[in-house]
Amino acid sequence: MSRSKIIAGNWKLNPPRHVGHALFAAVREGARARGLGHGSPVRVVLFPPLPYLERFGEVGALEVSLGVQSIDAFDWGAFTGAVSPQLVHDFGARYALVGHSEQRLYFGLTDTACGRRVAAAAAAQLTPILCIGETAAERDASETLAVVERQLAVGLAEIAHASASFLIAYEPVWAIGTGRVAAPKTVVAVHEHVRDYLVRRFGPELGARTPILYGGSVTPENASALLSERQIDGALVGGASLNAAAFLAIVDSALAAGR
Ligand code: PGA
Repeated sequence: MSRSKIIAGNWKLNPPRHVGHALFAAVREGARARGLGHGSPVRVVLFPPLPYLERFGEVGALEVSLGVQSIDAFDWGAFTGAVSPQLVHDFGARYALVGHSEQRLYFGLTDTACGRRVAAAAAAQLTPILCIGETAAERDASETLAVVERQLAVGLAEIAHASASFLIAYEPVWAIGTGRVAAPKTVVAVHEHVRDYLVRRFGPELGARTPILYGGSVTPENASALLSERQIDGALVGGASLNAAAFLAIVDSALAAGR
């Protein structure tokens, strides 16, 4: 089955307000010029810092979907500091990253907490993108497949049903922000393992339709080689998503790969 490609931009804790507004406008204009939108062969999803969400959601984001970089597994109530899936959905978010390696590293997010967030997001009609990936030490110890399988098992523990909708982003920690992109054949091997796991766990329909993205030092220079692999359903782009021209060049690689 052929899945459309998804190019996601994770802005992380960037950029300042006026730069962010201009960046969003440029990406949206670029997406519009390329005829992107609902049902197009490439879908663009942006993950700006939370304070941008209301304005971007109001401007309307037909060509570009919006997501949040993190979400808490709480509903309304006395949970100081938390932001719920329902609330960000109200403000226009449709996706939520769960378990990005920086969340795991700097905020102590565990696999079990990821599982709760995936379930909370899904319950609020927010599509979770579960981020998985091994560290350099785990790769060197040949533990990559065991690590990603554990992250999947626990992170998806509360997804019970074949009607569920979620995405996986394979992001080897050693490739994030380092300029050391993983080789396409390495990514394909891990993605095939992830796909086998999803089919075994959830059955052939959900297993086949769930997109598996790659992230880690994706740039306009290396995007084509990655995105032309049929096992790679898109990219989660950090640094290069802060430059509209670079990000749109990656979108163009995805469009070319789909032709
Ligand atoms: P990078 O980040 O593209 O800057 O490596 C990717 C990510 O963290 O999602």
